[in-house]
Amino acid sequence: DAMAKEQSNAPMLETEGRPALGEVDGVLLAQATCNEWPRIQRFQARPDDLLICTYPKAGTTWIQEIVDMIQQEGDLEKCQRAPVHRRHPFIEWARPPQPSGVEQAEAMPPPRTLKTHLPVQLLPPSFWEQRCKFLYVARNAKDCMVSYYHFQRMNKMVPDPGPWPEYFEKFMAGKVGWGSWHAHVKGWWKAKDTHRLLFLFYEDMKQDPKREIENVARFLGKNLDQALLEKIVYHTSFDVMKDNPMANRTGVPLSVMDQSISPFMRKGTVGDWKNHFTVAQNERFDEDYEKKMAGSNLTFCMEL
Ligand code: A3P
Repeated sequence: DAMAKEQSNAPMLETEGRPALGEVDGVLLAQATCNEWPRIQRFQARPDDLLICTYPKAGTTWIQEIVDMIQQEGDLEKCQRAPVHRRHPFIEWARPPQPSGVEQAEAMPPPRTLKTHLPVQLLPPSFWEQRCKFLYVARNAKDCMVSYYHFQRMNKMVPDPGPWPEYFEKFMAGKVGWGSWHAHVKGWWKAKDTHRLLFLFYEDMKQDPKREIENVARFLGKNLDQALLEKIVYHTSFDVMKDNPMANRTGVPLSVMDQSISPFMRKGTVGDWKNHFTVAQNERFDEDYEKKMAGSNLTFCMEL
């Protein structure tokens, strides 16, 4: 694969003017997160915490908005109280001197809704000990890769993705922030057998948002009437969230996210990987995927 080889000899763009990644137990994480690691691991969860868990770009913002709309019983004004990434502390987030995710969570009155992208093996143990509720959203690997690539192009706080063929290799090898997609989804899929965990699929949410939102509400112990359910479906649709300044990250400074490169609310579709993967890449990906996912009964739809 001469082209891929040549690409990998291209100058390293990863850290040029952007914060470095560090590593915890073989998983790449922001260096600032690695620096905070002992405090993150000691984080004290409460039994009434709800933890939203995702691999990056799986639809975190979407499920956050859905959860908030359910919890606020459809009160749009309450859901506008802060940008979505501020409403739910992101526990492993660190960017000194700003308050870390742990500090934000500690300052939040219960019941708390928190967010993480950590794989199961790196989750602060108190979440398991306290038997918290977990809400996991999984998105098919190929669309995650594409979304992550565009996100890394525009987000100056993560490494530059480099050219697509190079990024493709990195993602497949799990050499991106929060590590391997395969390990992440397999780990959380298994956790649902022993914990209070609702496992959702981005593709199902696209196909039938009403059904999936009802599912989430049931898990949270809330009953939604038809009018409220429809209001939540509408408010959390891609087009409405794209125009919602409290969801679309337009308040994030240009020095952090340059949305002229790629908007945070980019496409919100299933199957955009077909516009990015070459036939050869797709074959390699599938072969590797089979091996990595062998023994797991987890299946994804990529064709909606
Ligand atoms: P694309 O880049 O494929 O458009 P995260 O919030 O985990 O970072 O995920 C971001 C991805 O979810 C982006 O995918 C974004 O467009 C998509 N997304 C955000 N809100 C959505 C919604 N309401 N419906 C569908 N997709 C949504």
